[in-house]
Amino acid sequence: MARFTLPRDLYHGKGSLETLKTLVGKRAVVCVGGGSMKKFGFLDRAVSYLQEAGMEVKVIDGIEPDPSVDTVMKGAAAMQEFQPDWIVAMGGGSPIDAAKAMWIKYEYPETTFEDMCKVFGLPKLRTKAHFCAIPSTSGTATEVTAFSIITDYTKGIKYPIADFEITPDVAIVDPDLAETMPKKLVAHTGMDAMTHAIEAYVSTANCDYTDGLAIHAIEMIQRDLVDSYNGDMSKRDSMHNAQCLAGMAFSNALLGIVHSMAHKTGAAFADYGAHIIHGAANAMYLPKVIAFNAKDPTAKKRYGVIADYMHLGGANDDEKVANLIAYLRGMNDAMNIPHGIGTYGADSYPTEHGFVPEDVFLARLHDIAVNAIGDACTGSNPRQPSVEEMEKLLKCCYYDTEVDF
Ligand SMILES: NC(=O)c1ccc[n+]([C@@H]2O[C@H](COP(=O)([O-])OP(=O)(O)OC[C@H]3O[C@@H](n4cnc5c(N)ncnc54)[C@H](O)[C@@H]3O)[C@@H](O)[C@H]2O)c1
Ligand SMILES: [Zn+2]
Repeated sequence: MARFTLPRDLYHGKGSLETLKTLVGKRAVVCVGGGSMKKFGFLDRAVSYLQEAGMEVKVIDGIEPDPSVDTVMKGAAAMQEFQPDWIVAMGGGSPIDAAKAMWIKYEYPETTFEDMCKVFGLPKLRTKAHFCAIPSTSGTATEVTAFSIITDYTKGIKYPIADFEITPDVAIVDPDLAETMPKKLVAHTGMDAMTHAIEAYVSTANCDYTDGLAIHAIEMIQRDLVDSYNGDMSKRDSMHNAQCLAGMAFSNALLGIVHSMAHKTGAAFADYGAHIIHGAANAMYLPKVIAFNAKDPTAKKRYGVIADYMHLGGANDDEKVANLIAYLRGMNDAMNIPHGIGTYGADSYPTEHGFVPEDVFLARLHDIAVNAIGDACTGSNPRQPSVEEMEKLLKCCYYDTEVDF
């Protein structure tokens, strides 16, 4: 038996933010990030729509990118005081994910972060509040997913919280919010979405309900992402839908080791002054993981199907896999994303010597490999790597060398 869960309601299209006027409740808390939603006027609009709905509104702002356990606990304490019956989270994946974790702690104040991380082990939510998510980036699709990614900075590790309980009740996918994204954010979040769709399609948990969503998302992202990056706003709007479809697929089909590796490398070198941004990490690791997974016959066939839908040519599955890898690397080139950690600059752009020194990478490699294997996304990957294989794979991701094992 398998389960397929999505938000009860999804409003989409330009101007759909106004749907906030129709929420029914007494008090709403609005969770946002560092300032982009305020700067572009979306926060004020959201607050006034909720007030129009007759609600008292409190704003929790300043949620940082890659939110910490500490931020979650503080936000939950603020919710405890205000007692909202709606949690409205607006912005990129970071504030929405943080709000999801705050929601758990608000409903069950005794819950620890460790409790939250027990995969599909959450108690019933919605005893105090319902959740509405409004994305402003086109990538994570957290507005429709059963996931929240929180970083434990004492360990330098990102932990996925995974449970259908945290799938939002309402998602508002209004492309107006995505139009203010700077180019780099378009590139990273767009490749995150491409990774979601491809990993969902080859996941061992794929099914008839997720395949169509994944394939259509892949076709749309191939058609629209680079143009969106280059400033075409109609493509930007379409990407907002594409990433959401990819999210519907992976929330139910789960992901694979590209995400395991991105989660465990993202904050692992924070002491050297930067993060490997989630979408950029995925963009770099995806071609390597495809080469690794394609040794599994079922995965190879499925990558071949993806290549066919993308019209990439190839006389057999081996050629199709090679064409898919080359195409994805071409997308990275078109959007100024490096091909490996070794050339990943602190500003995320390609550079001769990246911010992660080789000796530091090698010293931490074993622990990162062990952590990546233990990540919640590894179980549904089509090929299960050993620790040695994961180390080799991560080395290929550092040096940008070919995966031939
Ligand atoms: N929950 C899930 O299913 C899921 C899936 C993938 C990734 N994630 C997580 O989501 C996080 C990344 O989220 P993200 O990529 O959406 O970025 P983000 O939320 O971290 O935001 C990145 C930056 O972009 C700014 N920003 C956001 N929207 C903007 C807009 N419209 N205009 C201008 N600036 C804007 C923010 O202020 C912030 O500075 C990571 O922590 C990642 O691990 C979660
Ligand atoms: Zn992702």
